[in-house]
Amino acid sequence: MNIKNTVLVVIVAIFMISCAATKKTVKKEGMKVLKYVEEPHSHAQPNEVVITHLNLDIDVNFDEEVISGTATYDITNNNEATEIILDAKNLVIEKVQADGKDTKFSLGAYDESLGQALTIEITKDTKKITVFYQTTDKTEAVQWLTPQQTQDKTQPFLFTQGQAILTRTWIPIQDSPQIRITYNATVRVPKELMAVMSAENPKEKSVNGEYHFKMAQKIPPYLMALAVGDIAYKAVSDRTGIYAENSMVDAVQEEFSEMENMMVAAENLYGKYVWDQFDVIVLPPSFPFGGMENPRLTFATPTLIAGDKSLTSVIAHELAHSWSGNLVTNATWDDFWLNEGFTVYFENRIMEALYGKERADMLGLIARQDLDEEVKGFKDAPENTHLKLNLKGRNPDEGMTSIAYDKGFMFLKTLENVAGRENFDVFLKNYFQTNAFSTITTEKFVKYLNENLLEKHSLSFNTDEWIYSPGVPSNAYDIKSDKFEKVKKTIKSILKTNKVDASVAKDWTTQEWVYFIRNFPEDITPAQMTVIDNAFDLTNSTNSHKAMVWYEQAITHNYKGNNVDVKIEEFLIRVGRRWYVSTLYTAFAKAGKTEEGLAIYKKARANYHSITMNTVDATLGYKK
Ligand code: BES
Ligand code: ZN
Repeated sequence: MNIKNTVLVVIVAIFMISCAATKKTVKKEGMKVLKYVEEPHSHAQPNEVVITHLNLDIDVNFDEEVISGTATYDITNNNEATEIILDAKNLVIEKVQADGKDTKFSLGAYDESLGQALTIEITKDTKKITVFYQTTDKTEAVQWLTPQQTQDKTQPFLFTQGQAILTRTWIPIQDSPQIRITYNATVRVPKELMAVMSAENPKEKSVNGEYHFKMAQKIPPYLMALAVGDIAYKAVSDRTGIYAENSMVDAVQEEFSEMENMMVAAENLYGKYVWDQFDVIVLPPSFPFGGMENPRLTFATPTLIAGDKSLTSVIAHELAHSWSGNLVTNATWDDFWLNEGFTVYFENRIMEALYGKERADMLGLIARQDLDEEVKGFKDAPENTHLKLNLKGRNPDEGMTSIAYDKGFMFLKTLENVAGRENFDVFLKNYFQTNAFSTITTEKFVKYLNENLLEKHSLSFNTDEWIYSPGVPSNAYDIKSDKFEKVKKTIKSILKTNKVDASVAKDWTTQEWVYFIRNFPEDITPAQMTVIDNAFDLTNSTNSHKAMVWYEQAITHNYKGNNVDVKIEEFLIRVGRRWYVSTLYTAFAKAGKTEEGLAIYKKARANYHSITMNTVDATLGYKK
């Protein structure tokens, strides 16, 4: 080839390459092709077409135990796509319309945890789709309760639980935390009942049982929530309040009277509360969580109502999610620690602001102890102790362990210590502001951390070891508590003398009680436990957390005094809070008493929400 030809070939080649490159960038920028990262727990393809707003119109039929109606979505077509994919699980899809006209749809293969892809035909100009659907008796998000399962025993009750991937079982939706939608809803319920949602809520019953809701801020689908029951509202301040069954409203209002103070503390730390109202609904005892951060309306277990405000750190936790989780959301469930680790840290700071450093350190040390136990439990599967998980092909529920919560917390606590609290608070406040109403992957967080904290203050930190390696790095901040040192001494002296000076525990917080009970030596005897129970009446404690850890010890060490067995059975039948009941059934299994656990479980199971059932089925090897 002569020079001239070579030059020509090179010029042509450069021209072709640059054309190709231009085309690619146009596609990328003009059509936002890569806005969403790959998501192992949703069938949706939001880079193609994404939902932006939901208009929900449903009837709640307690006689049939069915929710039915329509979900209408505004959609944005990013790629001239001719189909949109939603997630649906155990729903009956009756028909689908595109801009008001019937259109074709199909349901894909059923996956045990993901459900089905609902593929709907659209054109590149379709603006709205409407799905006509009904729930079924396999709908996992919803628990239908008989009057007997409520506090007041006169009316039925219903609540939903969306996180992590259950919203698709009561609404066909693009069920990935990367999606954000606003919503309106019309909900018709029996006129004796009130409906409330994760939205602007009524404060009184309507005359005809029809309710209208509006959520004006964009939220991820796992935060869609509905509760229906014979409930009433009481304000705590002009922007906080509680819903509960009639016989409980006063007690709940009193228990949660610190809500406004918590809000003020939270706002002083990390910026304005953007959801306007912060209410809590106390649900019947089968609710599977301590709390669930549904925006504007946290769902909570009645086991928090101890009569002395001693379990309100859960409310601080759910409030903290208004920033970490609801405002800045984990992009996928592999990044779950970004929701929960930040929230435990933030919860700890709210508790410190309200009740002082000693209290916060105790909470922190309990988290540390839980973390060490969880790490031990995963000694044969250490990859489960990484902060960043890989849950592809698994149910995301499996990643929802103490690692995300307590290792996430320890990571941030350690960073705070290295950077100094002042710098760290500036960093966190900016983090929430910069990423508000969007999602974040672990990788994006690491980049943000490097640029805005570590490089800025010339700090070196073993971030990768914390996030991508098992166990707890050796630089973990060493939380200390004098109060807990005293508790340890108390245990020693009781066991040595067989006598209890009950006055030492006069002012103990729940944290001290829990630390006391959980740190009995492995060889404690039933006789020693009798001495302790006679002094403190732990078997009959009305503080659910204290009672639960005491029952755990009773099971583990074969303590039978004060009819504790009867109490344990009664507790397991009444309460469905997963953390509590799974701790107790695990204690049965570990103590070689699986049969005993199973005998109780057979009586209790029907009262549990599907989330708790799934966990305990696995713990006890229960077969339906
Ligand atoms: N968002 C969680 C509950 C959750 C986690 C639901 C994973 C579904 C999947 C909530 O904020 C939470 O963490 N609740 C805790 C209380 C908290 C103080 C640790 C609970 O329920 O115990
Ligand atoms: Zn949480």
